[in-house]
Amino acid sequence: MPFDLVRRSAAVCIAAFLTSLAASIAAAETDETHAQISLLPKYRQECAACHIAYPPGMLPAASWQRILGNLSHHFGTDASLDADSVGQISTWLSANSSGEAGARAAPPEDRITRSTWFRQEHAEMPASVWKRPMIRSASNCAACHTRADQGNFSEHFIRIPQ
Ligand code: HEC
Ligand code: HEC
Repeated sequence: MPFDLVRRSAAVCIAAFLTSLAASIAAAETDETHAQISLLPKYRQECAACHIAYPPGMLPAASWQRILGNLSHHFGTDASLDADSVGQISTWLSANSSGEAGARAAPPEDRITRSTWFRQEHAEMPASVWKRPMIRSASNCAACHTRADQGNFSEHFIRIPQ
């Protein structure tokens, strides 16, 4: 093969590789931050009164099952529901979770906010910011993620209250 042709085909190869790399990065980013699955109406109705309807993919199935199994002692409050609703919501959350037990370890207290990935994503946030009156708690996603209620955590829609 003449040298020029080798060089050109190498360039084509690299370009193709970069294009596919960019596409897979974009896809991964979309999966993680823009995944807007449509919520079970019952879940939105019963679990978005005190905080946002947290995206099911942010916890493993085991965590959702424990949370749904203990709603009368729900992070310091009583969020009890009838057994039929509990069953429907638990099944749906588990099916849309980040995976079965073992696929991804359950975070301490079954809190999204104590997951390794959550801590990494928010590592640059000074501890004092979480305590601001408009924020109060890391669990209050919507204080900063202005489209959290739509399941959109993209960095384009973050505004941190002062
Ligand atoms: C009566 C109010 C109320 C209802 C209804 C409620 N929750 Fe909560 N939930 C809370 C409170 C309070 C916390 C703790 C928030 C904090 O620490 O700042 C919480 C925390 C959570 C967390 C952990 C958030 C974190 O820190 O990562 C999850 C997950 C959760 N709730 C899921 C649910 C599900 C699922 C339902 C519906 C079955 C539900 N909640 C209904 C009040 C409620
Ligand atoms: C005090 C403000 C604040 C709160 C509250 C908060 N976040 Fe964030 N979040 C941020 C900031 C700032 C970033 C970093 C954005 C960046 O790196 O450009 C971030 C990043 C993220 C990312 C990665 C976004 C991306 O495009 O890479 C996810 C996912 C996320 N947060 C989810 C949550 C969830 C879920 C909650 C609630 C349980 C939450 N956040 C609460 C401020 C906040």
